[in-house]
Amino acid sequence: MKIKSAEIVISAVKMEQYPEDEKPEIAFAGRSNVGKSSLINLLVNRKKLARTSSSPGKTQTINFYDINDQFRIVDLPGYGYAKVSKSSKEAWGKMMDMYLNNRKNLLDVIQLVDIRHAPTQQDRHMYSWIKHFGFNGIVIATKLDKINRGQREKHLNIIRKELQMTSEDILLPVSVETREGKEEIWELVNEIFKV
Ligand code: GTP
Ligand code: MG
Repeated sequence: MKIKSAEIVISAVKMEQYPEDEKPEIAFAGRSNVGKSSLINLLVNRKKLARTSSSPGKTQTINFYDINDQFRIVDLPGYGYAKVSKSSKEAWGKMMDMYLNNRKNLLDVIQLVDIRHAPTQQDRHMYSWIKHFGFNGIVIATKLDKINRGQREKHLNIIRKELQMTSEDILLPVSVETREGKEEIWELVNEIFKV
């Protein structure tokens, strides 16, 4: 994918702030710290477009990024961050519900999980929600550089099993450090936007 432009449109907390045009969107969902914002930067070849942090809970709003004036990638706030107050959790839930349940522009929700860890209950919940709503059920396993090559298959199998993915569901490993997996993700994203 040739990136001619990539820019933030808005950091939204409520529906009235969502972009109003008809550009298609895909969204990245997953636990805090899994690497959603980093993956967006990798995909668009920009180090600091989406803000990242080594401590979880960095992205707290729904961030819409316009790519090539053609489509958007949406960075969602992460879940599963233990130190979050009950009221922030509720706000997160409302914000996610509002976006995921009502957004007509949304063509697909791609789930990210850390390749090192077995999916959590919230990951399983998110994935079954994604499937239930008829999205493609693509999963990206992040931080591939953090495990040995010989361990990959084992970790990928655990993710498949725990999320109850079928043999047709796509699971792609990626690393923002080595850039492995980047082109494969673009291929998938292009396919989604072609439909
Ligand atoms: P929230 O905004 O809190 O939901 O987190 P996020 O999912 O957006 O995570 P973010 O992109 O901020 O990344 C979290 C941390 O993981 C940062 O320190 C990143 O540098 C690191 N990270 C992300 N992807 C990779 C990767 O592929 N390899 C390695 N080694 N580190 C990564
Ligand atoms: Mg983030």
